[in-house]
Amino acid sequence: MIKLAPSILAADLAHLADEVEDIRLGGAEYVHFDVMDGVFVPNLSMGLPVLKSLRKCTDMFLDVHLMIETPIRYVEHFCDAGADLVNVHLEADSPENIRLTLEKIRAKGKKCGITLKPATPAEAAEPYLGLVDLILVMTVEPGFGGQRFMMDMLDKLRALRKMLETVNPGCELEVDGGITRETAPLAVEAGANVLVAGSAVFGQADRAKAIRDIRNF
Ligand code: DX5
Ligand code: ZN
Repeated sequence: MIKLAPSILAADLAHLADEVEDIRLGGAEYVHFDVMDGVFVPNLSMGLPVLKSLRKCTDMFLDVHLMIETPIRYVEHFCDAGADLVNVHLEADSPENIRLTLEKIRAKGKKCGITLKPATPAEAAEPYLGLVDLILVMTVEPGFGGQRFMMDMLDKLRALRKMLETVNPGCELEVDGGITRETAPLAVEAGANVLVAGSAVFGQADRAKAIRDIRNF
């Protein structure tokens, strides 16, 4: 099953509850929540207080993408604030700390994931394949919405799907950045099953139609 995870980075944050209700009615499965610290990526976005408020007004699955340095400092707080899945970047800490970070998320009873920036090869995920519920492949440089999908990430998706086949076939493979009705089928063909889309959903007046369009291939 292909899941849609609209990114609220592109939503009208003054009306976040309504925006999320709109995508729920439109048939989205996850809410993608982008956290940026201005250090790991050259931008700032929302954090714990917004997640806490959002948790109170929706039952939807909250997929939290941490674009922050040394995420081990904060993952438990994000779990307590209501994340259903917490995703950390492989580039954000040492391999040993990433492992400990994933353990902390699990100990809170939440799902965990790792994210790979475009320059990080599929092989970097190898040590964590059996430890995660989801692997996120960035298909743009993280930090900003509205960028172009990087076609050369398709081979990385294929490689990861293959690596997961034997070790962790139930693991989800998510793509984030530049997903549109044109790029979605390419990502799915390469093995992705969760599609993050910011501008392609929240940038459209009719969100239900936007979600249908992305799924319709
Ligand atoms: C970028 C974020 C994305 C972003 C995607 O760093 O991680 O989730 O919101 O936006 P679009 O779909 O517009 O590329
Ligand atoms: Zn994201």
